[in-house]
Amino acid sequence: MISAINITKTYTGQDGTITALGGVSFKVRRGDFVAVIGRSGTGKSTLLGVTGGLLKPSSGEVFLDGQSVWNLDEQSRARFRGQKIGFVFQNASVISSLTVLENVVLPQSFLPKSTTANMSRAMNLIESVGLGHRTHAYPDQLSGGEKRRVAIASALMNDPPLLLADEPTGDLDSETESEIMSLFANLWQSGTTIIMVTHNQQLANYANRIFKMDDGLIIESSGQTEAEDSFS
Ligand SMILES: Nc1ncnc2c1ncn2[C@@H]1O[C@H](COP(=O)(O)OP(=O)(O)OP(=O)(O)O)[C@@H](O)[C@H]1O
Ligand SMILES: [Mg+2]
Repeated sequence: MISAINITKTYTGQDGTITALGGVSFKVRRGDFVAVIGRSGTGKSTLLGVTGGLLKPSSGEVFLDGQSVWNLDEQSRARFRGQKIGFVFQNASVISSLTVLENVVLPQSFLPKSTTANMSRAMNLIESVGLGHRTHAYPDQLSGGEKRRVAIASALMNDPPLLLADEPTGDLDSETESEIMSLFANLWQSGTTIIMVTHNQQLANYANRIFKMDDGLIIESSGQTEAEDSFS
């Protein structure tokens, strides 16, 4: 499903040039659940952004379902992302002027589908992240963890075949964390491919593969043999 070839990403700013990704290659098969682990600052979020077509790599290529993500023009890439990818960002971004329900339904408003079906799908997702009683609240009226749950529901609105999640349970208590992880496990079982960044080794155990990052590189990758690699 994903083939990333020799990706580099450097950031140039007041601190000089930082190499966030130093030439990373990997493959993810359809139906994989990959946990990306590693210390802070090792390039995990950068890797997710480049893979998902949000952060342009300095060099290298990403193929998603055979399509070169970074060879598309901006508009086609946005459309492609909308069809293929759900993102849960590390900072759980939601739009403060929209209610919980409006935030969740938003990704669908770009696609032609009946509004009633959208609303009922959004309501189901909001229920599944445990916020059924806060549908009409605005983000300012929610806790950090609740906002994060809204972001997760919104990422799932388009029923994306690929879910990219950056520390999706980062600031949640352990009970809510297990609820979110059950939701991810169900999605995985129903065929969604997942790449999840986490600091938590226990959460990494939900995945069938682990990429360990250090200093802008994947230094260990488990769950895929050379033989499987040639079939993916
Ligand atoms: N916009 C940016 N401008 C300059 N440097 C950046 C930028 N974004 C990230 N970096 C740097 O690139 C490196 C990798 O950052 P990244 O956010 O990918 O790390 P991470 O593994 O996700 O860390 P964390 O676990 O803390 O979220 C870090 O050294 C970071 O300071
Ligand atoms: Mg990060």
